[in-house]
Amino acid sequence: MRQIVIVRYGAPEVLEPRETPDPIPGQGEIRITVHASGVNFADVLARLGLYPDAPKPPVTVGYEVSGLVDAVGPGVVTHRVGDRVVALTHFGGYADRVVTPEALAVPIPDSIDDIVAAAIPVNYLTALIALYRLSNLAGADVVLIHGAGGGVGIAATQLARLRGATIIGTASSSKHDAIRAQGVDHAIDYRQADVTAEVRRLTKGRGVDVVLDPIGGRSFTDSYRLLAPLGRLVMYGVSSIAPGERRSWWRALTTLARMPAFRPLSLMNGNRGVFGLNLGHLWDERGQLADAMTQLVADVAAGRLRPVVARTYPLDRAADAHRFIQSRSNIGKVVLTV
Ligand SMILES: NC(=O)c1ccc[n+]([C@@H]2O[C@H](COP(=O)([O-])OP(=O)(O)OC[C@H]3O[C@@H](n4cnc5c(N)ncnc54)[C@H](OP(=O)(O)O)[C@@H]3O)[C@@H](O)[C@H]2O)c1
Repeated sequence: MRQIVIVRYGAPEVLEPRETPDPIPGQGEIRITVHASGVNFADVLARLGLYPDAPKPPVTVGYEVSGLVDAVGPGVVTHRVGDRVVALTHFGGYADRVVTPEALAVPIPDSIDDIVAAAIPVNYLTALIALYRLSNLAGADVVLIHGAGGGVGIAATQLARLRGATIIGTASSSKHDAIRAQGVDHAIDYRQADVTAEVRRLTKGRGVDVVLDPIGGRSFTDSYRLLAPLGRLVMYGVSSIAPGERRSWWRALTTLARMPAFRPLSLMNGNRGVFGLNLGHLWDERGQLADAMTQLVADVAAGRLRPVVARTYPLDRAADAHRFIQSRSNIGKVVLTV
């Protein structure tokens, strides 16, 4: 089979195509002939050596694929050879074949094509868990979504819209028309404007009920301070740790050093909540993940949710896909096609 391997940490050129033997599915596992594979910011961090969860190089990353089941291991009951599925993969997704537990794959209807399907799992599960499970977003809430033009940001905007919440989104100004079209009520260009002052102005000083923050470092403190009474902050990323195509230890250390420490008494007296979310550490919650994915696939099939695919690249051009993401040009999801 063909895989894209991170041969060492570094710039996008370290993503190299390699031929390796086909994987054999074990007990309870299926093998998928991959048609499309989602690219995530975590893959960029893994390439830079800034993602502790990823195995060391040489490694093939990739958290999600769509395609056809082409082999099943012993004990598999829910999928058969020939089924069209979308699946979570614990690494290995940048490949034309991948093995994953059957419980992490769900069927996709004919009405959803492979590329759209591959754009569902990570972005929409992250947004769904952040908004519906952790912060329990309500229609009367005001939610601040950072990185509203990215894959998770657009998924979160669509899910917040379904709940009827008021949405404030931050993004580069070139993305404002696009995020407004998705349902963002107030777009803030965080590069030009003082986000805190702007959110206070928009909310008449009250602050917001929910913040989704994947920026990290100092941003977590700013987001926390913007919470109205009973507000909830969901921290789920550290985008600011990787400003360029090469690793910067200085930036990594300053980002980590600027993380806030939350104190119980302060949380109590402020009537605020903080949550952390890392989908990659929920892999053992297979039933919950599969139930949520099944619901998301149904919502996409029904047109309630519409994944936005910014651009596709052939598998062998994974390096260009990373460059595109790191140039911050994508509005929505980047997908590799096989
Ligand atoms: N915890 C989890 O389970 C989980 C799951 C999925 C994603 N995440 C995290 O969520 C964040 C967004 O993921 P995504 O897949 O939606 O990414 P994405 O599609 O690449 O979007 C991220 C957006 O964030 C903005 N951004 C801010 N700082 C950036 C930086 N240093 N480098 C690149 N972009 C930056 C960019 O928009 P502007 O042009 O507007 O700045 C970019 O479009 C990442 O931090 C990712 O690691 C976490």
